[in-house]
Amino acid sequence: MLKKKKTKKNLISDEKILDLSNDQDYSKLQKASDIIKNGGLVIFPTETVYGLGTNGLDEDAVKKIYIAKGRKPDNPLILHICDIEMLGKIAKNISDIEFKLMNSFWPGPFTIILEKTDIVPYTVTGGLDTVAVRMPNNEIARNLIKYSDVPIAAPSANISGKPSGTSLSDIYKELSYNVDYMIDGGSSQIGLESTVVRVINNIPHILRPGKVTPEEIKEVVGDVIIDSSILGKIDKNKKVLSPGMKYKHYAPNSECVLVYNNDISKTRSKIIELTEQCLKDSKKPVVLCLDSDLNYFKNHFRGTVNFICLGDSLESISQNLFSNLRKIDAFNPDLAVIQGISSEGIGLAIMNRLLRACQYHIYS
Ligand code: TXA
Ligand code: MG
Repeated sequence: MLKKKKTKKNLISDEKILDLSNDQDYSKLQKASDIIKNGGLVIFPTETVYGLGTNGLDEDAVKKIYIAKGRKPDNPLILHICDIEMLGKIAKNISDIEFKLMNSFWPGPFTIILEKTDIVPYTVTGGLDTVAVRMPNNEIARNLIKYSDVPIAAPSANISGKPSGTSLSDIYKELSYNVDYMIDGGSSQIGLESTVVRVINNIPHILRPGKVTPEEIKEVVGDVIIDSSILGKIDKNKKVLSPGMKYKHYAPNSECVLVYNNDISKTRSKIIELTEQCLKDSKKPVVLCLDSDLNYFKNHFRGTVNFICLGDSLESISQNLFSNLRKIDAFNPDLAVIQGISSEGIGLAIMNRLLRACQYHIYS
């Protein structure tokens, strides 16, 4: 739940916030859905990250999202739906494989790129003839869509380039003045944005990894391709399958480097080497490490370095990843040294976000 300081400086009225973090009375969503229907902007929770949403069929409303986020107009938005009936209105020529994927992973952290129908404005799709669609699993999100009775266009709730918002308190400062209403649903359950997939020649291509892993997709349709951009730097002159791949993402203001080697002792040595070099240059480092390695590094540096704990399981690392990336700037370091993990399973999504936060500066 968002803890607001009751100061004179606090100009955001309570009327602008609906707290559903411990409340399942979804009839309270009526006001939020009226705002959506009328083309206003609402921050709402989903199981992945918070979304910044509006009526996805209203071109002028959708334009406001790009302005509020400072997002490039060619970077398309996801349309969020609450049932299959809504899907039929916004997408066409859906193949058996696409249906199979939707049946397996919806409602949930899975987005699929489909051929759009005429009612979907090109402002939503960044000028493309395809549309990204997701049916979220979060009850607040699904009820909000149901009450609004329109697909909700929503990117992650954050200023473009910054880490996605996984709690209202993380994004409150940067977005509250640009939106009409905010729904607090507590901390996001997953913490990483959905897996984005496009089926090409009957093979699912993962354009952005997420909680739904390549292994799970392969189990459903027998094949999967992980786009080369996911763990590799993108050639600026090459055409990309998803416009979002081109842009800077998840980046703290501070310089960040990622360290990962299959051999944990090598990872530890490199983290120590980079951090010591920083101290020698009279600069201020911060180290982001796994909980299990915290004591090791603390014993080594003996109080000379600040630490941020990444978590102790893939689940907790995901849940807290964006909050932890946001914490870096609070230390105002000259360098953030971040410990990486293996890219298996959901580790692929975690490493994809970390690589981008570090702008591909990785050491092994
Ligand atoms: O979990 C999520 O997906 C969250 C929550 C709010 O649902 N949303 C989210 O939206 O992460 P956003 O806008 O931050 O990321 C959507 C990604 C972008 O990288 C965008 O380029 C890509 O999906 N995308 C959207 N429409 C597309 C299309 N027609 N073709 C290819 N990529 C598309
Ligand atoms: Mg985003």
